[in-house]
Amino acid sequence: MNNSWLDLEGKVAIVTGGASGIGLQIKEGLVNSGAKVVVSDLNVEEGQQADGSYFVKCDVTNKVSVDNMVAKTVELFGSVDILVNNAGVNLPRLLVDVQGEKPEYELSEKDFDFMVAVNQKGPYLCAQASAREMVKQNKGVIINIASEAGQEGSAGQSCYSATKGAVISFTRAWAKELGKYNIRVISVAPGIMETTEMRTGAYNEALAYTRGVTVDGLASDYSKSIPLGREGKLKEIGDLVSYLASHRSSYITGTTVNISGGKSRG
Ligand SMILES: NC(=O)c1ccc[n+]([C@@H]2O[C@H](COP(=O)([O-])OP(=O)(O)OC[C@H]3O[C@@H](n4cnc5c(N)ncnc54)[C@H](O)[C@@H]3O)[C@@H](O)[C@H]2O)c1
Repeated sequence: MNNSWLDLEGKVAIVTGGASGIGLQIKEGLVNSGAKVVVSDLNVEEGQQADGSYFVKCDVTNKVSVDNMVAKTVELFGSVDILVNNAGVNLPRLLVDVQGEKPEYELSEKDFDFMVAVNQKGPYLCAQASAREMVKQNKGVIINIASEAGQEGSAGQSCYSATKGAVISFTRAWAKELGKYNIRVISVAPGIMETTEMRTGAYNEALAYTRGVTVDGLASDYSKSIPLGREGKLKEIGDLVSYLASHRSSYITGTTVNISGGKSRG
């Protein structure tokens, strides 16, 4: 599809976690809209296969790695106009494993630190390094990929939900700090989407245990739980992010756009 009406031609974008899933579709949307995209991910093999973009290996939990990735982007393309904080991880864990059958599915400090590092510290480090450039340019857009879990909470995913709630709060606060420099900050909160690499066998087993169902029992009748009656397409997030990154959304900042087919509203 020709997205020229968005006028992102020549804009420089960073997409963290852009090697797979939602990030890959966000990358596609931005590239199709004419942007120059840097995909930054830990996954070198898949990241290097992403067509039409430039790959920089980066661990978003590591300040040196993030600062180098942003510096490399500026060296290559001269600016950072758009940052999409998309890299994220989700380990379904109960606060208390009351049944006592699977202590590994009770939230441990290690699991907590891992999710907070990638989902909360990562967006902070990437936004800080990118915003330093955006302030100099007096323009920029930061888009944080949150989740409806961060708006509503989610059983068996309390730590994940909390990290996404933090991202939504970052969005509100950074928009207040950075508006005067012509920098917009927006979060996107997806609901149930087409399967990505996040939903591994281990993820499904853990989530099923925390919900007290079998893995097969996780499949629900979307016609009952989602007003639009289906899961979301990854491309629908890609299209939304391209729109939010463009001047077509120039008066939107400090808010979260829920994209869940009506399942939740935030
Ligand atoms: N899939 C869903 O249904 C859904 C729903 C709501 C929100 N989200 C959010 O969307 C985002 C993308 O998720 P996805 O479903 O595409 O998952 P995914 O696992 O397919 O993609 C996540 C990417 O992040 C990368 N990554 C992980 N840790 C990293 C790190 N430390 N540094 C750099 N890159 C790292 C991974 O290598 C991977 O390429 C996440 O923030 C997730 O929380 C997903």
